[in-house]
Formats: sequence, structure tokens, C-alpha cells
Amino acid sequence: MNYIEWREDYNVGHPLIDAQHRRIVEVINTVYNLVKGQGDKGDLSKALGALLDYTVEHFTLEESIIDSIEFPEGEEHKRLHLKMRNRTQNIVLRNAKEPYAEIAEETLSLLKDWWLNHIRTIDVRYKPYLDNLAAEQGCGRDYE
Ligand SMILES: [Fe+2]
Ligand SMILES: [Fe+2]
Repeated sequence: MNYIEWREDYNVGHPLIDAQHRRIVEVINTVYNLVKGQGDKGDLSKALGALLDYTVEHFTLEESIIDSIEFPEGEEHKRLHLKMRNRTQNIVLRNAKEPYAEIAEETLSLLKDWWLNHIRTIDVRYKPYLDNLAAEQGCGRDYE
């Protein structure tokens, strides 16, 4: 069983955003399995590096979409992204100094909570604006 199981109701309805969210959840599951299985140290560093890369890539895309839909809570949303990005960076740095010791159960559950909370309660707030845009353009959910 995965540490985080993706559920269809986590989708915000934008294919690329949803695909990126799923990819982030997958890499958190990989980190979890490496820590639990006491896998290779290099693999854990790689997985955490991938998590940071995907996080940065995702926030960049999401922020450009948020700007294009004139979401009124955009600035606050970006501030939360910056916080999560810095926290993820700290995990990566701590792991580089002291592999395994700092990637404790607590860190794993923080990652899980940040992401599930962000996707389900923060990201979901721009969903109506995406839906409005799609309705205005008469193009359903085709945002690509
Ligand atoms: Fe977000
Ligand atoms: Fe997101």
C-alpha cells in the first residue's frame, strides 16, 4: 500500500496540474519507501532532489496559471508556495548533512500533510476560476 493514496476528488480539473500533483505524491511515496526500507542513501538523496525539482516546477506552472485567471488570492497562494519550497529545501539540505537521521517519521508526515492540505484546501480555491475561464471560452476542460 502507498503512503499516500491518490483519490479522484483531489483533482482540480486541470490536466497538467493534476498530473504534477500526482507525480509529487508518487515521489513522496518513493521517499517513504526508501526510508522505511532503509534503501540506498544515494537513492534517497535523488528522490528528495526530485521532490524539490517537481515542487519548484509545479509552483512555477501553477503560479503562471493563477496569474492568467486573475485569481484574487494569488499573492497569498504564492506566499504559501514559497514557504513549502523553503521547507522542502531544508529537508534536502538536512538530509545531505545527516542522511536518514533527519528524515524521520515526523518529516514524512509533514510532507504528507503539507501536500494533502495544500491540494485539498488551498489549490481547490482557484478551481472555480478555472471552471469560469473554461465556461467563458466554451472549451470545457481543455486548458492546454
Ligand atoms: Fe498551490
Ligand atoms: Fe498545486
